[in-house]
Amino acid sequence: MNKPKVVVTRKWPAEVETQLKALYDVQLNETDRPMSTEALKLAMQSADALLPTVTDPITADIIGVANRRVKIIGNFGVGYNNIDINAAKEQDIIVTNTPHVLTECTADIAMLLLLMSARRASEAERMIQNGHWTGWGPTQLVGQKVTGKTLGLIGFGRIAQAMARKAHHGFGMNILFYAPSAPEQAIVDELQAIRCETIEALLSEAHFVSLHCPGGPATKHLINEQRLKLMRPSAHLINTARGDVVDSNALIKALKAGWIAGAGLDVFEGEPNINPGFLELANVTLLPHIGSASEETRVAMGNRVLQNLSAFFAGHEPNDRVA
Ligand code: DGY
Repeated sequence: MNKPKVVVTRKWPAEVETQLKALYDVQLNETDRPMSTEALKLAMQSADALLPTVTDPITADIIGVANRRVKIIGNFGVGYNNIDINAAKEQDIIVTNTPHVLTECTADIAMLLLLMSARRASEAERMIQNGHWTGWGPTQLVGQKVTGKTLGLIGFGRIAQAMARKAHHGFGMNILFYAPSAPEQAIVDELQAIRCETIEALLSEAHFVSLHCPGGPATKHLINEQRLKLMRPSAHLINTARGDVVDSNALIKALKAGWIAGAGLDVFEGEPNINPGFLELANVTLLPHIGSASEETRVAMGNRVLQNLSAFFAGHEPNDRVA
């Protein structure tokens, strides 16, 4: 029997690519250069499965291409706002993602950004690298204490809960959260967490605000000028979710004017392009979307896609079906 044809849009961890080669008639992307719209359309016409990642916009135009052959899109990533889910549903294409396996590592990066922003770590490192450090000083690079402070989480899914555990059990932080639906009572009790009725209430209370909501039109610029003005002047904003959840121009204004003390960002509106305003600021920590970038996690993400594919080609429902 012929092996199903599978197209992978970016370079994946070697051990996962080895498995893909053994199981499928696979087209890999050795160069790791993102595929063009035309190449993605061709893949939709020539393969049974397309395996994109969060940097590939899989639009209605690509999904609706004439003579499409693809029956399953196995996204390498937990977020799937890169895919037009409604178009996939209309075309009866199955879409899967990679939940669970990146939860702890992404929460680690959120915690890292929180600590770096609070303690001005990027600014401090730049001081050494630029040769500007002349020695210890009692008033030099004074940041804010983290232990015992209040962390407000917007969105309270797996990653937010993992961060809350690290913050509460590791740093004695008080936990506030805003979530459209109530989480399990056990996690609320474990963390002695308080649910805020509104985003506004959370913003005005928290010393640190961390974003954990999905991207897409419903959350675009959820954090805007008006909401940034509600935060404490000593507060820090952390974003490991999606760039467009925050209005970048408003955040730059807030950081310049001192409406808030700092921000730690792993994701950006229009990434990989970075709003140049961020590059001029001392009080922002910038990471290039590395939330899930640990060896173990990236392999686990690939394996998760493989499991979804195996289930699909064996005629079963894939575990991580989102459409
Ligand atoms: C995701 O999976 O959605 C992250 O943004 C990349 O790992």
